[in-house]
Amino acid sequence: MGSSVFKPLIHLSTITNYPYVDFIFVTFAVLFIINAVTTFYRLLKMRWASEKAFADFPIENRHPIFGHVLLVKLNSEETIQDIAERADIFPYTDQLWLGPFHALLICYHPDTMKPVLSSSEPKDEFTYGMVKPWLGDVLLISKGSKWFRNRRLLTPGFHFDILRPYVHIFNECTHTMMDKWMKQYDNGMIEMFEHVSLMTLDSLMKCIFSIETHCQTEVSTNPYITAVYELSEMVVNRINFPPYFSDLIFHLTYSGYKWRRALRQVHGHSKTVIHQRKQALEEQKELGIKHKRKYIDFLDILLEARDENGKGLTDQEIQDEVDTFMFEGHDTTASGISWILYNIAKHTEHQRKCQEEIDELMEQKDKDVIEWDDLSKLPYLTMCIKESLQLHPPVPFIGRKLSKPIEMPSPTGNGKVTIPAGERIGLPIIGLHHNPHVWEDPEVYNPLRFTPENSKGRSPHAYLPFSAGPR
Ligand code: HEM
Repeated sequence: MGSSVFKPLIHLSTITNYPYVDFIFVTFAVLFIINAVTTFYRLLKMRWASEKAFADFPIENRHPIFGHVLLVKLNSEETIQDIAERADIFPYTDQLWLGPFHALLICYHPDTMKPVLSSSEPKDEFTYGMVKPWLGDVLLISKGSKWFRNRRLLTPGFHFDILRPYVHIFNECTHTMMDKWMKQYDNGMIEMFEHVSLMTLDSLMKCIFSIETHCQTEVSTNPYITAVYELSEMVVNRINFPPYFSDLIFHLTYSGYKWRRALRQVHGHSKTVIHQRKQALEEQKELGIKHKRKYIDFLDILLEARDENGKGLTDQEIQDEVDTFMFEGHDTTASGISWILYNIAKHTEHQRKCQEEIDELMEQKDKDVIEWDDLSKLPYLTMCIKESLQLHPPVPFIGRKLSKPIEMPSPTGNGKVTIPAGERIGLPIIGLHHNPHVWEDPEVYNPLRFTPENSKGRSPHAYLPFSAGPR
């Protein structure tokens, strides 16, 4: 091709041609103004729609521009206090405005959470969208038929027979952590969260990929683990810093650069492991060799999953689900376990009873190790765990965006109010658990609220550390 074909539309010399520059500038300015006006009008319509939809529900000191952003304290123990106070004043629902346009109807009560959670309304893209570049359109985020199909394909992964051998993995990983504590901290205090978090990552790497990373003992050597850590931390930082809600602003910052770098690392790792496992499986098939590992890991489940038409998950879907389970599985469990240890350390009377229960069970067994069947024989410990998840739920807040209207109990207690499609509903699990109209002395660590007698007559939607309903 001759170079003349590629004559640039704007030659450098024309830059000095003022009318030409003026024309470009004016065009851009007009397009920019049109875009800004239509966006502003769309946002205004959203504001009016939410104001109309939530008109019957109480609202507290809303600033016309900032909404409640200046009042809501994020990322601290104060947040719990704040949400509990709101639940005390507004036992069922109130409105939360994040700036001038984005509103959520916040539910604090089993009666208002139930209608939302009983349906399979989609997750709110506003918050869940922040993890989408990492996880893809997966079980956690997806909706409709895609969610339904993948949920069905993944359900075998939670069968007892699959989970049973994992207890040995958890024991092994916990022993590694305990050995570390015995060696390093025989007299001092332990900042345990990081250790517990590495232990849960170690467990997951074995349960998901059957990979031994030694991440508990060689902390900084595994780039995949480091990247998973970085991404989890950045998701939380982003949610806690409103300017980072904007993709454009976030990606222009150093955090945005680190996010992209960590994403490349995590996706690259998952791709490689999936590819290697597929090759190994094909070789085994050709040679007629059966499964060699002691247990079926999550990757096996995903690779072997088939729908009613015999169709499996694509490589991209497998990668996304693996990444999701790494994300969903490590921080939640690390937070849950750390709080349990904290609570029983603070309330030694309960700790002593847990210890006695475990000692008694061990005396009856010939092995000095907890196994799957033992888990149901530890009712006191189970109550202590439940109570810890009650006070400190690892997933404190979930959200939905309505795809169809739903009926909600009226805040006055008389009849129902219909919330139209398109509105966002916030479900602060932590607010429900600390709601004094639902729980007696919600701030007190009291495992006995979970005895069978004390649980009688309680709404199944009063205690939701793992959420409820189809999701
Ligand atoms: C103490 C530990 C855990 C807690 C408290 C917890 C809590 C939750 C909650 C509240 C939800 C609902 C989220 C929503 O509605 O938006 C959820 C969903 C989910 N969790 Fe967990 N989780 C825990 C551990 C795990 C683990 C270990 C895994 C996997 C290895 C996992 C995988 C998932 C997945 C895939 C979903 C999405 C389900 C769906 O929408 O169909 N979670 N979890």
